[in-house]
Amino acid sequence: MSGSPRPLLRVVTALVFCAALTVPGPLPYSQASAAASSSAEPDRPWTDRSLTPEERADLLLDAMTRREKVRMLHGSLGSPVPSTGYIAPIRRLGVPGVTMTDGPAGVRNGQKATALPAPVSQAASFDTDVAREYGETLGREARARGQMQVFGPGTNIQRVPVNGRNFEYFSEDPYLSGTIAGADTRGIQSQGVIATVKHYMANNQETDRMTVSAEIDERTLHEIYGTPFDLAVREGSPGSVMCSYNRVNSVYACSNSHALRTMLRSRFGFDGYVVSDYPSTHGSCDLAAGLNVELPLSFHVSGLSVRSPLRCGELTQDVVDQRVREILVVLFRFGFFERDGTATSPIDKAAGNAAAQRVVEKSAVLLKNEDDALPLTDSASRIAVVGSAADDSVQGGGSSQVDPLSEDTTLDAVKKRAPLAHVTHDDGRNVRAAADSAKSADVALVFAHDQEGEGGDRSGLSLPSNQDELISKVAAANPETVVVLQTGGPVLMPWLPRVKSVLETWYPGARGGAATARLLWGDVNPSGKLPQTFPAGEKEVPAHTKAQYPGVGGTAYYTEGVDVGYRWYDKTGTEPLFPFGHGLSYSSFTYSDLRMEKGSGGPRDPVSLSFTVTNTGKRAGSEAAQVYVSKPDTEADSPPRELAGYRKVSLKGGESKQMRLSVDPRQLSYWDTSSDAFRVREGEYGIGVGPSSRALPLSASYQVEE
Ligand code: BGC
Repeated sequence: MSGSPRPLLRVVTALVFCAALTVPGPLPYSQASAAASSSAEPDRPWTDRSLTPEERADLLLDAMTRREKVRMLHGSLGSPVPSTGYIAPIRRLGVPGVTMTDGPAGVRNGQKATALPAPVSQAASFDTDVAREYGETLGREARARGQMQVFGPGTNIQRVPVNGRNFEYFSEDPYLSGTIAGADTRGIQSQGVIATVKHYMANNQETDRMTVSAEIDERTLHEIYGTPFDLAVREGSPGSVMCSYNRVNSVYACSNSHALRTMLRSRFGFDGYVVSDYPSTHGSCDLAAGLNVELPLSFHVSGLSVRSPLRCGELTQDVVDQRVREILVVLFRFGFFERDGTATSPIDKAAGNAAAQRVVEKSAVLLKNEDDALPLTDSASRIAVVGSAADDSVQGGGSSQVDPLSEDTTLDAVKKRAPLAHVTHDDGRNVRAAADSAKSADVALVFAHDQEGEGGDRSGLSLPSNQDELISKVAAANPETVVVLQTGGPVLMPWLPRVKSVLETWYPGARGGAATARLLWGDVNPSGKLPQTFPAGEKEVPAHTKAQYPGVGGTAYYTEGVDVGYRWYDKTGTEPLFPFGHGLSYSSFTYSDLRMEKGSGGPRDPVSLSFTVTNTGKRAGSEAAQVYVSKPDTEADSPPRELAGYRKVSLKGGESKQMRLSVDPRQLSYWDTSSDAFRVREGEYGIGVGPSSRALPLSASYQVEE
């Protein structure tokens, strides 16, 4: 790194209700004495550690006054450490305060932390180990900053490719989203920090996000928009869930008992507490609907509003008790009565950076690589680097934007990786000058970026400002042009036929430069796959009418139903620019020998299968193998194929490995509105295995019998 001050290329969004950093207040109540033994303190039976969290919560609840209970349901100021949210302690009873911070891409509590790559990269890795390590890093740093709860992971479906927050979310596919969210959650919570799966639910656009109603049929609600949260809950057991700003079928998400109680608690089995997305509450009756805590900028839960007299019919004292109990159980479960969750320690910067770098190296997607233009070799002695993103660090804007502890740039990393090469840099503002700078180089590396951020959607799918023209002109000047994208989601690529290679690195975080250089030179072999379809045109997307997105009269009609993302492209036969699951390697892989353990079974049986992946190239590399299911074509009009499993395997050149995978019956099921349950129907299921949703060299069938 040059060390000279650089202007930061960051997106600042106007409408962000997230910077409510609390002012450090008095020192926290110390729980040191409570930690001393497992027997109860006199008069505090809930301090008995031999009891279950539920038993302890009941005992404590009995000792709380009504005022104390209501105070727990409302976020407050006065956190002892800089935080984004806070629940005040009840010192009289030894109940700890709860410090909370954003967010999904690194700790954002007003202090510096590791800027992790954009969360979407976890899904692009198609590797739950990557998500788990990502979460561990986030949790470890949150804990070092004295934070007891992290507002993440963001688990919404990438329904529209222009959504300003797609970089914070995982995928257009519910199974990939949910399994990655579950692993990220496990990672965060392994550090003793509560994860908050957000924004529940159907918060799929930033346009009108505070008011828009997502009009969704029941089947789609469960299969597409509920499933990621369901899986995150089942696989990650998050301590908390955040309800969103928008309405779902006319009812605000934080007031929506169907979403919060019926779906989240009863059907998904969530046993933590629900926090509001800041000003997303609409009345004290939200407590009856399932909300536990309203966070700053929401002012509906107060002694007065709850007291008089618990105004909506359902808001009884029992409900208030229940909501408080749900919070207490989590606090006991996480041991916050026995340790000071606000204790701070230095962040391990080297560990954070190393983790951030690994994520990029495992999630960058090689979209195109004509004539094996990549990896670069030492024969590239004149390298033209073009684009401002090469000399800067790009992040998404809003509550996921981290104040980085350290950053690098790709320009510095390229110079370091090719110390003997003549490396030039042109920021690309003057297209002609940039093209001239590239003309005589052995290779031109153009860095392009988009600008996603909370509070607004992108105005379209094109790269912003002059970048399309820049890439076209550089490619015209130099046929050896490689494009490196730093985007949060899909962009159109009118210049695609004229460039040799395209590498998508997402917003690559603190060590994005080093990781990108290693990928470009083949020190690591790209292995990421697209977690969302890259469309060929602005209108060639599932939600292409105004009624669907951004909506009319305050409502977005989800009339595409379950045909979201690749499901729609497959059903309508629309050719995308790059399909879901696509991603190349510097090696090549073949698939063979698909075997089903059994060719048939009952509706509750998992489908066990095995197949062999062979690295037919010379380089070591990893391949994310994908399994898709085609459901029987009956009256429940299902998409042609749906992701039902994935597994990443590392293979040396020439090596083969047999992979075993089990598909859960849930992945074979559909939401049956007549019985309000997921059901697996009788019939023949197609199984396809391969490197992407549009390349499935292996196929078999499986018969479900009652
Ligand atoms: C965002 C949340 C965030 C919160 C706190 C809200 O505006 O939607 O994702 O956690 O602010 O910053």
